[in-house]
Amino acid sequence: MRTRTKSLLLTGAAVFLASALPAPRSTGVLPGEFGIPPNPSGSFPACGACHDPNPNANGVVKVEITPQLLSVDAGGTVPVSARVTGGPGLGLGGFCMETSAGRFQAGTNTRTTPAGDAITHLDKFGNSWAFTYTAPNTPGVVRWTAAGQSVNADLAPTGDSFGFYGPNSGQPGVPLRLYVNAPAVGGFGAGCAGLDGHQPVLGASRSATIGASFDTELVSVFPGAFTFCALGDSATAFGTLPLPFDLAILGAPNCLVRCSHLFTQSAAAPGQGSGGGRAVFSWPLPNDPGLRGATLFFQAFVLDPAANSLGLAVSNGLKAQIQ
Ligand code: HEC
Repeated sequence: MRTRTKSLLLTGAAVFLASALPAPRSTGVLPGEFGIPPNPSGSFPACGACHDPNPNANGVVKVEITPQLLSVDAGGTVPVSARVTGGPGLGLGGFCMETSAGRFQAGTNTRTTPAGDAITHLDKFGNSWAFTYTAPNTPGVVRWTAAGQSVNADLAPTGDSFGFYGPNSGQPGVPLRLYVNAPAVGGFGAGCAGLDGHQPVLGASRSATIGASFDTELVSVFPGAFTFCALGDSATAFGTLPLPFDLAILGAPNCLVRCSHLFTQSAAAPGQGSGGGRAVFSWPLPNDPGLRGATLFFQAFVLDPAANSLGLAVSNGLKAQIQ
């Protein structure tokens, strides 16, 4: 009995100490922690609440976020890497990233909120981090925002530079968009980036079912873009052309054609903000039970003079098994 009381008292003292001391920031920045503003990765004051209030104060910062796939399976897990460069340029820094749905799992030098909806650095001894992300079971668009800081490691919040993910690191709130697909729909292969560095993302939030319309949805393109989507029956050959086929010889390096084209449809992509354009393509499927189990392949294309000399950005490939 006496030992129990004593250990309870000790635990109480430890909890009190932990909450009274300011958390050391070189071990990361998560929303909801002591002194950290809400949404530190996607809105002001962000890191500037304690560090220099202006982004890019000591040199322009670049925040790169690279998930292995952008069009992901519901409940699926993808590796992600993050990197912060620029600023004082010593290869030291930190970051905070938040997701609108799903959860991050920490790697060796990162940690997350208990809910996994935000992730941050664990020390200041590097400027790149590797971790994983598990998509929610609900299909649709997921948005990530990120802020990173390149530091001089002087143990003070001075001389450091923070910035946001996006084409202009001084501007908060530009998200990286992922698409979480419906059951029996899957993304494959990368696309190639267009205006503002956004890679077009193709997904579908309902399965392909006979006798119904199957909608493929294109996000992460510039608002007002002219886009088209192809439906094909193969991801390995387009007539006599083996796939994937790199459009480098036409002036679009690393833009790969990922499926054959049996049908194509065009659509405008209205929207707002950097990468905020969205287009939907509807594919009516015949009510023929013989189609069940067949796989359809899709890829979308964006007319984008900023992409390359061909003026074309391309999405990931998408495949859907008919139900
Ligand atoms: C609540 C205040 C606060 C906020 C908000 C904050 N920091 Fe800090 N940060 C500090 C303090 C204080 C230090 C210096 C003490 C230390 O190193 O622990 C620091 C130091 C650091 C360091 C270690 C570098 C050094 O010179 O010691 C990194 C990396 C860092 N912060 C990254 C970030 C990032 C990235 C953000 C925004 C996503 C951020 N911080 C937001 C208070 C804050």
